Amino acid sequence: MASARDFIGPYQILRMIRSGNTTTVFEAMQTGGGSDRVALKVLLDRFKKDRSKIDELRHEANVGKNLKHQNVITIFEFSNRYALPFISMQLFNARNLKQELREKPDRLGANIEEIIIRCAEGLSHLHSQGWIHCDVKPDNFLVDERANVKLIDFSIAKKAKTGISAFLSRTRVLQGTRSYMAPEQIRRKAVTPATDIYGLGCVIFEMLAGKPPFTGVSPDEVLNKHLRAPLPSIQAANRAVSDNFAHLLGQMLSKNPEKRPKSFDSFLTAYKTMNNRIYRAGMRPSYSED
Ligand SMILES: Nc1ncnc2c1ncn2[C@@H]1O[C@H](COP(=O)(O)OP(=O)(O)OP(=O)(O)O)[C@@H](O)[C@H]1O
Ligand SMILES: [Mg+2]
Repeated sequence: MASARDFIGPYQILRMIRSGNTTTVFEAMQTGGGSDRVALKVLLDRFKKDRSKIDELRHEANVGKNLKHQNVITIFEFSNRYALPFISMQLFNARNLKQELREKPDRLGANIEEIIIRCAEGLSHLHSQGWIHCDVKPDNFLVDERANVKLIDFSIAKKAKTGISAFLSRTRVLQGTRSYMAPEQIRRKAVTPATDIYGLGCVIFEMLAGKPPFTGVSPDEVLNKHLRAPLPSIQAANRAVSDNFAHLLGQMLSKNPEKRPKSFDSFLTAYKTMNNRIYRAGMRPSYSED
């Protein structure tokens, strides 16, 4: 394994949790300082001198430093003092929501309503600190069997901006994940809290339908659908979903950011008026056959 070492600075590596395109996440233990376990997100060896990759990690720690919420992972520090640059953070021993959806879609079952609230609360906290996540997708929520949720991965988070500075902050490169990208993000316009609301809408759609709202044989096809295709009916995919919730989900996934709920708090208020219920009274959730 490219970046596996027994020690990185004061941290003893215990096991690999996940290996990605630019980083590997390990479970580790700080030597000398008690036996607390942490998660280390370590840059792959081949990127250890790559300025922009190092800056991305540093940025992630910087975004994390003022976040303090039970549904958001706690980041401790960024370090570039040892063999490889890394960030250390709170270890949360759970799988990400993508793994859960892929392997056991029904297991979320009874917890799904609570999970949605916690995902929205975590994102709401991020927004209250002035950050837009910009990469809301199932892989970036850790969820345990008691429906505890932690939002992770702030590597492309952006400062929320308004007015002229919003216009000037247009990004040059397309960042984010194609299956969950809001139309304004695809058009490289300024991102706003509504961008993350669209992302969570895609995640909720996938939790209920078993697949994201827009799929395709190529990345371009998916992007085009986010821009232009009408939203598929959630109730066609899952008959148990109530009319009220289908309507709220439709608003979250509106192409026009202005038509989405204004904030996660207003989404949560609307959800609470449904008693946090997604399903029609007396209906068991079920996926359609196709
Ligand atoms: N604090 C943590 N505790 C436990 N597992 C974690 C933690 N942070 C990340 N993970 C696991 O590692 C995976 C990747 O983490 P993260 O999303 O931060 O990296 P990434 O930026 O997507 O990686 P890459 O860009 O290299 O693909 C997560 O989906 C999750 O499974
Ligand atoms: Mg990620």
